[in-house]
Amino acid sequence: MPETPAYPVGLRLAGRRVVLVGGGTVAQRRLPALLAAGADVTLVSPGATPSVEAMATAGEITWERRRYAEGDLADAWYALAATDDAEVNAAVVAEAESRRVWCVRSDDADAGTAWTPATGRSGGVTVAVLTSGAPDTGRDPRRSAAVRDAVVAGLGDGSLVPPQHRPRTGGVALVGGGPGDPDLITVRGRRLLAGADVVVADRLGPRDLLDELPPHVEVIDAAKIPYGRAMAQEHINAALIEHAKAGRFVVRLKGGDPFVFGRGMEEAEQLAAEGVEVTVVPGISSAISVPGAVGVPVTHRGVAHEFTVVSGHVAPDDPRSLVDWPALARLRGTLVLLMAVENLGAIADALMAHGRSEETPVAVVQEGTMATERRVDATLGTVRARAAAEGVRPPAVVVIGDVVGVGTGGTRG
Ligand SMILES: C[S@@+](CC[C@H](N)C(=O)[O-])C[C@H]1O[C@@H](n2cnc3c(N)ncnc32)[C@H](O)[C@@H]1O
Repeated sequence: MPETPAYPVGLRLAGRRVVLVGGGTVAQRRLPALLAAGADVTLVSPGATPSVEAMATAGEITWERRRYAEGDLADAWYALAATDDAEVNAAVVAEAESRRVWCVRSDDADAGTAWTPATGRSGGVTVAVLTSGAPDTGRDPRRSAAVRDAVVAGLGDGSLVPPQHRPRTGGVALVGGGPGDPDLITVRGRRLLAGADVVVADRLGPRDLLDELPPHVEVIDAAKIPYGRAMAQEHINAALIEHAKAGRFVVRLKGGDPFVFGRGMEEAEQLAAEGVEVTVVPGISSAISVPGAVGVPVTHRGVAHEFTVVSGHVAPDDPRSLVDWPALARLRGTLVLLMAVENLGAIADALMAHGRSEETPVAVVQEGTMATERRVDATLGTVRARAAAEGVRPPAVVVIGDVVGVGTGGTRG
């Protein structure tokens, strides 16, 4: 006999009493979604995990620090029996049944009157998956989770619902694409990219993602726009404004984070001044992720309590420089230099001249997180010669400080 299928429904729990019996890891997993739905949650449990306890301390839930007792489900709209004691869970379900309160039972799902689906969200769509009713598979939470993951991923990258069938957000999205590995863009960034009519892309960032765009998407290579830097920026702004005003949804895809040496705010201000709606999607900056990718943490307990990210695009003695190199030389923590390959020798000299030891470890990471990634190790005293001998080219992140010697140097997935 095939199992009777469950009836899917969305519960509107805002302001409604929900009783959760048991404060362990099941509670920890279920509470965020219950709270996001606005439920008025009472937890009944003698103990709780530290995270659950923190929710009680913060006043997000009411915690009755005792064992379950008959009558606890009075006035509840929904209940969860999630203790590690089968007898207690059975008693909770029995009380729920007598009061006609829907009740999930964590240790024996079939003994409850409701099931928690595997849920996920993507761009305003909630996906809830239950696998039930199939005689060969039965209820299978792992399968539910796998289906949920596939649907959420498909919505995120546009492969499930083609972008032209999505609601238009309009305007321009300034999307931080991360350091280069296409897996290191945010889910939101990827979703917006999937819905773009026009993509204006930098030289840095996840260039591989451009290959996945459907043929109708116009890709403008910002790196190929001629003229000097300032003129190029004006042309980029003009292109963004022109396409957005023509009703197209434009993604301005940037390397790392749009607001870390990325001119993101200049573009956002220009667009806003033209009345174009702007969305900013943060990205994983190369300043942290590129060192991390080669096993260098920018902070480490007992080694560095600070890190400072500095642009090295002008030399320390250049009158345009806004950087206080003598002050940086006095810091004990980590220095992370971006755009510093050309001036690396002069920067190392300035740091040593103002007191930083010539033995200070340095790692130069070129094309971090990409297939061509490489790391060159040196000290402040040797980095000029080492970088030249190794032919280090931009883009590279330079990390200076004792954190360079920490860790195994293994790659992170
Ligand atoms: C104009 S800045 C943009 C930084 C970017 N907004 C970010 O948050 O990563 C460009 C510099 O970032 C660094 N950079 C960006 N991606 C990199 C990567 N994959 N590997 C090494 N350096 C990178 C280099 O120092 C490069 O010269």
